[in-house]
Amino acid sequence: MTKQSNILVIGGTGKTGRKVVELLKNQNQNVRIGSRNESPSFNWDDPNSWQKALEGMDKVYIVYYPDLAVPGAFESIQGLIEIAKKTGVKKAVLLSGKGEKEAERCEQVVANSGLDYTLVRASWFNQNFSESFFLDPILAGHIALPMPNARIPFVDTGDIAEVVVEALMNETHNGKTYEITDPNALTFEEAVNIIADSTGRDLKYQAVLQEEYNTMMKAAGVPADYIWLFDYLFREVLGNPNNHVITSDVEKVLGRKATDFKVYTMKTAKTGVWHQSIPQSV
Ligand SMILES: NC(=O)c1ccc[n+]([C@@H]2O[C@H](COP(=O)([O-])OP(=O)(O)OC[C@H]3O[C@@H](n4cnc5c(N)ncnc54)[C@H](OP(=O)(O)O)[C@@H]3O)[C@@H](O)[C@H]2O)c1
Repeated sequence: MTKQSNILVIGGTGKTGRKVVELLKNQNQNVRIGSRNESPSFNWDDPNSWQKALEGMDKVYIVYYPDLAVPGAFESIQGLIEIAKKTGVKKAVLLSGKGEKEAERCEQVVANSGLDYTLVRASWFNQNFSESFFLDPILAGHIALPMPNARIPFVDTGDIAEVVVEALMNETHNGKTYEITDPNALTFEEAVNIIADSTGRDLKYQAVLQEEYNTMMKAAGVPADYIWLFDYLFREVLGNPNNHVITSDVEKVLGRKATDFKVYTMKTAKTGVWHQSIPQSV
């Protein structure tokens, strides 16, 4: 039987974190959800909240928000790791972005901390189409995005969560870095067409220039720092062909193939999320 640990899941209400929480609970682990709405609360913007959330924990899954590439992320990860060491945490698993050069400084803080650690670099999530910024355009039936030629090996958050839990629970993953992707790399147009097939909806992809996309975000009231982040993620991550590479790390860690994008779309279509009425803001 697996030994019971106390595990803080930062971002435990988010796309990967809530699946990590569920899987750990299924394994009888003591889980504390790191969220602004829990008690003790955890807020990246309030370093005073970090110690209480870490106290009594053996392990921590770190999901930084909004992204390890943003200014201030490095200092926050440094601060968190210092407190984690003082409070007796033994292991940290960090969620990072595949191909995000800027995030590597944060990864190094964890890798050089003296704690046991695993780095999980994920490609863009499938669930961005159903739980995040691509959902509204899908509901509107018109998806205008830059980087039409980028081949993106999207990854399912269920696969990420399983890899994270395996890394948290099994010491053979200590010191390892995993880069996790889907078995296929798709352009935005191909991804949209697969969603159209799975839902029976008429969805149109339109290629736009990055500058046009930034202007659209500004007009929609997206804050300037988020426009900077999206610009970085599109140009630096999707614009770099090295990041279009498919990996076999899901299979290496889980002993099974990564979830195909089509499997994700078929499953998600059944939930009805892509058939909701169009929100007012669109
Ligand atoms: N989305 C992708 O395609 C992708 C790809 C690779 C890597 N990543 C990485 O995954 C991480 C999460 O990204 P995501 O956009 O997908 O978000 P997410 O994990 O789905 O959700 C946001 C989570 O962050 C928490 N959160 C938001 N603001 C917070 C704050 N100030 N303090 C503490 N917690 C806060 C929310 O908790 P509460 O609201 O409950 O407080 C929620 O649990 C980022 O580091 C990103 O770089 C994302």
